[in-house]
Amino acid sequence: MHLPLFFRTQLLSWAATHVRPMPWKGERDPYKIWLSEIILQQTRVEQGLPYYEKFVAAYPTVIHLAAAPEDELFKLWEGLGYYSRARNLHFTAKHIAGTLDGRFPDTYDDIRALKGVGDYTAAAIASFAYDLPHAVLDGNVYRVLARFFGIDTPTDTPAAKKEFTRLANELLDPERPAAFNQAMMDFGATHCTPQQPKCVTCPLQSKCVAFQTGRVNELPLKSKSLVKKERFFCYAVFNAGADTFVQKRTGKDIWHGLFDFPALEWPARPGLPETRTEMEVWLRTQFFEENSAPAFTVTHISKPYRQTLTHRQVTAVFVEIHLTDDLSAEMLAMKPFSGTLRISKADLKKNIAVPRLIDWYLQDKAGTLSLF
Ligand code: ADE
Repeated sequence: MHLPLFFRTQLLSWAATHVRPMPWKGERDPYKIWLSEIILQQTRVEQGLPYYEKFVAAYPTVIHLAAAPEDELFKLWEGLGYYSRARNLHFTAKHIAGTLDGRFPDTYDDIRALKGVGDYTAAAIASFAYDLPHAVLDGNVYRVLARFFGIDTPTDTPAAKKEFTRLANELLDPERPAAFNQAMMDFGATHCTPQQPKCVTCPLQSKCVAFQTGRVNELPLKSKSLVKKERFFCYAVFNAGADTFVQKRTGKDIWHGLFDFPALEWPARPGLPETRTEMEVWLRTQFFEENSAPAFTVTHISKPYRQTLTHRQVTAVFVEIHLTDDLSAEMLAMKPFSGTLRISKADLKKNIAVPRLIDWYLQDKAGTLSLF
């Protein structure tokens, strides 16, 4: 049998017997498909599923999403990471609700032109919502194709993108683009997995070049491995009665739009004071302008918390600081309080979106430390 036809037939019959139920499967509403695909960018299905449910319940149409306050949307997004997705989601919802009169675009090029929508997401929406013949290409698809055809082109190169896009579109069943794309995603995610792929029960095994030549664990190839830059934060958690101080992160940096605590930052882990008394002396010089420190005591120094982002390895230590007296207006106008928001801890938990690393700390604290 002609190879593309073999591939397509085997893949689709595999999909018919390996159904992964997901709420967006069979969905034809482009808004919901778009929402699910944005959530699933850089997120596993199991992790994304509850977020999809929450978003559809809170914002059943693109009009609802467009009208949502950004901070509310960020709070719902909390824990998913990569917040530029949430920002673009909101921007695009407003664009569709306003400029496009609430009508979701229905051609590949118009879908692709939406902010936050790349080639992969555009192909997914075009095929799932409108049955347009565009093959999806993501890490799963690269892996399946590199193995089946024994392709050595490193997948993180522009040459690979061209080669694999052409191949995936050649394989795509033009009669059933949605079913084909969904089958590719599911097959890559559950059968032809990066580690320990299920070659023994694979329907493509007899013609899989990687299997036949013992190269399954070697393919796909990559040209470079990403070296992550380190960042180290020392967060000051100021406690004033039932309140604490947070600041919104702005500018072109990680966690844009999320809230964190006043911080000191280094490119590598500094030698931090280990005792509370030494920490108090050190904080006075590090955090405050000369002779402007309020009366405070350090009540706890946390263990280091680490979070891995795409290009960064972030480590943070949290120092709990009990402010003994009320802060004067002058103090509030100065570093580290200028630009901060004084909020209750209940508010922080309920309404403020924080980076995951901070959420881990707050959860540990609520569970075991009872520091507030
Ligand atoms: N990842 C991204 N989109 C997906 C989908 N529609 N089904 C399964 N996994 C996915």
